[in-house]
Amino acid sequence: MGESSKKIYTVAVAGLGKRGVHHADAVAKNPRFKLVGLCDIDQARLDAAKQKFGVEYVNTDAAQMLKTTKPDVFIFCTLPQIRLPLIKAGVEVGVKLIAYEKPIATSTNEALEMYKLLRAAGVKTIVSHQHRYGEHYQKVKEIIASGAIGRVHTVYGHATGWMMHMMTHMIEYASWYNDYADVEWVVGQAAGKEKFADVHASPDYIGALVQYANGVRGIIECGAGAPDVPEVEAWWRKCRIGAQGTEGFAEVLTVGGGPDGGWRAVTKNGVMSGPGGMDYDHDMPPYIQDIANWLDDPAQVHPCNGETAFKGFQVMMAACRSVVQRGKVILPLGPGEPELDALKKVLP
Ligand SMILES: NC(=O)c1ccc[n+]([C@@H]2O[C@H](COP(=O)([O-])OP(=O)(O)OC[C@H]3O[C@@H](n4cnc5c(N)ncnc54)[C@H](O)[C@@H]3O)[C@@H](O)[C@H]2O)c1
Repeated sequence: MGESSKKIYTVAVAGLGKRGVHHADAVAKNPRFKLVGLCDIDQARLDAAKQKFGVEYVNTDAAQMLKTTKPDVFIFCTLPQIRLPLIKAGVEVGVKLIAYEKPIATSTNEALEMYKLLRAAGVKTIVSHQHRYGEHYQKVKEIIASGAIGRVHTVYGHATGWMMHMMTHMIEYASWYNDYADVEWVVGQAAGKEKFADVHASPDYIGALVQYANGVRGIIECGAGAPDVPEVEAWWRKCRIGAQGTEGFAEVLTVGGGPDGGWRAVTKNGVMSGPGGMDYDHDMPPYIQDIANWLDDPAQVHPCNGETAFKGFQVMMAACRSVVQRGKVILPLGPGEPELDALKKVLP
């Protein structure tokens, strides 16, 4: 079947800030999709998006937009505080797939509730860890998978950006470099309360030691005190994710291009590096195309599927619980005290 004869999926988008516009733009440019509804509580943003994308139906109420447009795909890109009500609204109108922004939720309790609803209704989900589409991220995966660094014993990811912004990105890519092995337990420590005032409320610093079931150790750090990445100027992009094995290492820096390169490796075949930079224009089109691929064929599971992301989210929340409870926190997580509140109480 040619591309032109394939089904066109309808899409509605809620939350038209920076990321919502990235999503709407990639959807609008892909012939496999048709934008049928837009929503933002900010009327000026809604008007601007309506004009930019030429979509007829717009509304300030996401549930109403969904009831009216009944899309195949619901995308929402709101700040982290708004997740469960939008998942409920999407499930209620019977969408096929919900794509939404990281982090999954602000507590394990909320995420468990979301996934209970989604699984019962058989709704597919995608969480926006789209950096992995970067060619430098892919190159590092390729080197590790080829065996060139030998047997992987350690994976790592760190970012100077704080936890609710960056941590699930770091966990997602480090776990990918470890073939998404299950996680057995997490030990965490955190420091500082200033960033609890932010909309991405977080401890100023958090570190997590992760025990994967295949014996690999994961080391994840986020926030003020995470290692600097001096090669990278842009503060938000001071991220380094990679793997060490018995015969070398391979790692990606979030920014790249130019002489510094976006990835580097020392392997049994020599020392190498190459370009690549985190770029929404590069990463969003394939991220959106893979939604159509998955809806067309259930076997073509989206690389950013929500079930995998949910495991990564639990690693972050397990690290928070470990700060509060001390010791190892075993996965998977059940309900418990909301992690951010609990953390805030115990941090000096
Ligand atoms: N994946 C990435 O690379 C990446 C990058 C930046 C941000 N993010 C994530 O994306 C999310 C959004 O971030 P952003 O920078 O786009 O934020 P933003 O503030 O620019 O946009 C959020 C929008 O949601 C709207 N909104 C709020 N409540 C709403 C509701 N109930 N219904 C409809 N719209 C509503 C706001 O008016 C705003 O326009 C966050 O979770 C953030 O962590 C991801």
